[in-house]
Amino acid sequence: MCGIVAYIGPKEAYPVVLKGLKRLEYRGYDSSGVALLNNGLKVYKKKGKVADLEESLVGKDVHAHIGIGHTRWATHGEPSDRNAHPHTSSNGKMAMIHNGIIENYSQLKNELLKKGYVFESDTDTEVLLKFIEDIQLNNECGLEEAVRIALKRVVGAYVIVLIDQDHPDTLIAARKGSPLVIGIGKGEHFLASDATPIIEYTKEVVYVNDYELAIIRPGELVLKNLGNEKITPFVQKLDLELAAIEKSGYDHFMLKEIFEQPQTIFDCLRGRLDANAGAITMAGVQNNIDQLKNASRIIIVACGTSWHAGLLAEYIFEELCRIPVEVEYASEFRYRNPVVHKGDVIIAVSQSGETADTLVAIEKAKEQGALIFGVVNAVGSSIARVSNAGAYTHAGPEIGVASTKAFTAQLVVLTLIALKVAHEKKTIDTSRFMHLLSELHEIPEKVELTLRSAPKVKALAEKYRDARDFLYLGRGYNFPIALEGALKLKEISYIHAEGYPAAEMKHGPIALVDEHLPVVFVATRDSYHEKIVSNIQEIKARKGKVIAVISEGDENISRMADDTIEVPEADELVAPILSVVPLQLLAYYIGVAKDLDVDKPRNLAKSVTVE
Ligand code: G6P
Repeated sequence: MCGIVAYIGPKEAYPVVLKGLKRLEYRGYDSSGVALLNNGLKVYKKKGKVADLEESLVGKDVHAHIGIGHTRWATHGEPSDRNAHPHTSSNGKMAMIHNGIIENYSQLKNELLKKGYVFESDTDTEVLLKFIEDIQLNNECGLEEAVRIALKRVVGAYVIVLIDQDHPDTLIAARKGSPLVIGIGKGEHFLASDATPIIEYTKEVVYVNDYELAIIRPGELVLKNLGNEKITPFVQKLDLELAAIEKSGYDHFMLKEIFEQPQTIFDCLRGRLDANAGAITMAGVQNNIDQLKNASRIIIVACGTSWHAGLLAEYIFEELCRIPVEVEYASEFRYRNPVVHKGDVIIAVSQSGETADTLVAIEKAKEQGALIFGVVNAVGSSIARVSNAGAYTHAGPEIGVASTKAFTAQLVVLTLIALKVAHEKKTIDTSRFMHLLSELHEIPEKVELTLRSAPKVKALAEKYRDARDFLYLGRGYNFPIALEGALKLKEISYIHAEGYPAAEMKHGPIALVDEHLPVVFVATRDSYHEKIVSNIQEIKARKGKVIAVISEGDENISRMADDTIEVPEADELVAPILSVVPLQLLAYYIGVAKDLDVDKPRNLAKSVTVE
């Protein structure tokens, strides 16, 4: 949560920082602010989106060659101008931005209150800055030393960046648990929560590690640990193009990302799947094949949409590999003292690779000797780096807050892993293996065909936009898709929606059914087909409105349902990759019909780096 950007170098800092903040708005958009150093410190901040800040700064003096900026997802203190970052020190000379949570902030605040410090905001960030200021005063040390001492006492997660008008040529940054990338240009440096604000200036980057401090002056980057020892920066080349993070003519990133799926799935399969030769090439799996094959148990940890991908993977792994699988919310797993054995394999599924709960969950499991296998989209992210092995989803940067293309890529990667392990373990016969490879091979084209339903889904969105609640039902492989469809609708349109296993519906949700309730059935042809047809009848008998996602040509359901959306025929194991697409579109078009900001739904953030 929260995006941070900073610049130091010959360019005007403000435009660089502002543009960077717009790229990072997916991380939070409750308020934003910048601090600039030029003959003194200037701090500007505003409640609302980055565009509100920009508007408020028209005509203001924003000239500077060193600047920091922040876009906030509120944790401590309501969204307001006052609680917006950057925060300033008591002497008004220093400004700081922060992404993360300082857990012992109230203890530090009490110490400072006793010393007479006054607080302008409700944030933990202001506490940390004033704590640093106090250490500097008491120890008569420089800022760098004060930051180091302060961070040794801090409990929690942070990326901080500080500027000080007494050192107008220096940026100080530090990280623990939240992401920080430093871009290295010619005589200039760019700092950001991810690489998207950096790529148009340079492709040389350094990912800062936990407990590292960066001291940056024009043309100079010094990395140190908290023990004040120098560390040689590991410079990497970014594999990311600017076009990948722009809207390319679409109204919203979410729509662009939904429509990118034929390509992203193709990219995800490329070099891995050879359907003719009957081969799957995945180095991360191959190098750990014995541990994967012989796993006593697979535990999948994830949050949000990634958890839904994990749930579907449970069905697939158990079916194909005959290995018991548990799917855990990372936030629960990390705190509940779970039993983890050496022979267990933990699969962490994450788009951002930065979700705090998932990260801590795998760190804990790693300590207990389990193999950590990351299924991550963001290359070089924290979860990818903590994992012992992994497979990237290669969906490219996902900017829309509601996950779409990352989800389908996760399904593809998880299916590939299960197939490869099953093949090696000989728990799948050759003809089924070959059949599923060719089914996967055809998925990009079938997603392309599925997207042709967009105009029809748009019309349905108009029809159902005013519903107060929605129910999403599915069975077997389509149950996680019902959950995902409901989540998408909640996130984007603010309509209450529940996903349920279709049969379980009789144990509660059926009480909600009346002529006003739209019920979305994910009812493609599979082994449960007859059962779900009965469930549709049960809803119709109670006058519910049925919208069914069906396999093409399913006239039986077409006759019963109020509305249908067809997807191409596919094996039941891969069909969910198709059936989720109309549900993504439905959520999108209802959000648009209600004139909501679908790329930045209220209260949400794409990357949840606080627990
Ligand atoms: C947030 C996002 C979701 C995402 C979840 C997990 O809630 O809004 O789209 O599914 O975090 O994030 P991850 O990056 O770990 O997949």
